[in-house]
Amino acid sequence: MLLSEGAGRRGFGRALAALLFVGAVGAAVPAHAAPETPLPHIVPAPVTATPRPGVTFTLSADTRIHTQPGSPAAKRVGEFLAGVLRPSTGYRLPVVPGASGRHISLLLVGADARVGEEGYQLDVTGRGVLVRARTAAGLFAGVQTLRQLLPAKVEAKTKQRGPWTVPGVRVLDYPRYAHRGAMLDVARHFFSVDEVKRYIDQIALYKVNRLHLHLTDDQGWRLEIKSWPNLTAHGGSTEVGGGPGGFYTQEQYKDLVAYAAARHITVIPEIDMPGHTNAALSSYPELNCDGVAPPPYTGIEVGFSSLCIDKDITYRFVDDVLREVAALTPGQYLHIGGDEAHATTDPDFDLFMDKVLPLVAKHGKTATGWHEFVKAGPPASAVPQFWGTKTVAPDMVAAAERGSEIVLSPATKAYLDMKYDADTKLGLSWAGYTDVQDAYDWNPGAYIEGLPAEAVRGVEAPLWSETVTDSADLEFLAFPRLPAIAELGWSPWSTHDWEKFKVRLAAQADRWDVMGVNYYASPQVPWKK
Ligand code: ACM
Repeated sequence: MLLSEGAGRRGFGRALAALLFVGAVGAAVPAHAAPETPLPHIVPAPVTATPRPGVTFTLSADTRIHTQPGSPAAKRVGEFLAGVLRPSTGYRLPVVPGASGRHISLLLVGADARVGEEGYQLDVTGRGVLVRARTAAGLFAGVQTLRQLLPAKVEAKTKQRGPWTVPGVRVLDYPRYAHRGAMLDVARHFFSVDEVKRYIDQIALYKVNRLHLHLTDDQGWRLEIKSWPNLTAHGGSTEVGGGPGGFYTQEQYKDLVAYAAARHITVIPEIDMPGHTNAALSSYPELNCDGVAPPPYTGIEVGFSSLCIDKDITYRFVDDVLREVAALTPGQYLHIGGDEAHATTDPDFDLFMDKVLPLVAKHGKTATGWHEFVKAGPPASAVPQFWGTKTVAPDMVAAAERGSEIVLSPATKAYLDMKYDADTKLGLSWAGYTDVQDAYDWNPGAYIEGLPAEAVRGVEAPLWSETVTDSADLEFLAFPRLPAIAELGWSPWSTHDWEKFKVRLAAQADRWDVMGVNYYASPQVPWKK
């Protein structure tokens, strides 16, 4: 049944028909057998997952990964899967175009229309694994589910003992929201390219599809801007606590963006303005109204800095920065911050945004910003990111009435830098303590009073880094809450159930142990050990 890349469509169609027949036979299980078979422990919960009792498929040394003929994007998903499976299984797992009932097949034909742009169908029968989707993003999502169906040690980087058995199941799955984000603050403390890649790998497993990088703040400027080199030469040389800071060259940043894209994650770069700009103001005296550069800042206060609203050079600066950032950004959105501009008057804030929002459009991008930026009346295409601590937010309802879609990051629920409880060593507590049940138990579609469910574009879990210095710290705050927010972004509300979620979450711990993820063992979760 193996087809070469050049095989005609008809031949491929016949092979596929045979393959789907295999799936149909596998599905014909007696209804009374179902109750003893637990649903697999997948996070985020799939839309539907039907076990095939008594059926399993076991990878073997001659298993191949077949991908949609003629699709380089499907082949890349196959190579990604092989990259996960080869080190631990020790199998060759060649990635070849074609389809076969006896191996793993990743196909862009035959999927149920309900899978949409990012969903998939996954069939595990006694003979093989079939993932079908309409896009490579859908195949990638299906592959994340397949990883979670395999034993946790499949994530190991060294050869492990099998068997590599997958339980028989039929999954139909697709996301609730288009925007399923994680944000990392690389400004308060700098995170290296390798540390960010590590986080990208971790969030990809939970079907997160946006990585918002908070690239600039009072304490540091982290992205090389060739037309304003002192931003990084000076502004990148500090961080909270006085450490050495750091920055990404444009080449390094492109590599990060490509690494994320290979995992079907779009990077959203944030240049925070007009406040949170001490690093820029310290790098260029001419950006200050009085022409005097302030010293670098390594504390954790907010709201004291502002670009000079009345100076023309401010807008030449912003134009140059946005031009260079846009050129590095394949995604549609540039995040322009706008939060906590306490050192900018409201009329000045309006004036600033009235000049800056058109610059975003001029460089071919769409603006997103922290929710305060709705004060300036951005266009309906602009996406406000709500980070408030209350559920009453008339400005978000009004923005939705003007046509905006809102991303929800309520600080009391989605901020991964809030402490779990009073004893948590890392993190802050200005929005309260947030254990994993708090992070999980809210409905994005009915959270802000009066905000229509359709106005919600998605959810995002920000991780601010005032107290976070390395991957171990970051993971301690992100796990297990990041998977909780990821599930809110992906899974239908009909699957929402804390009692069930906590059991599925507990099952992730074996995987985190193998991956070396430094998670917080919240007492709310029934970990197995
Ligand atoms: C924020 O937490 N200042 C967006």
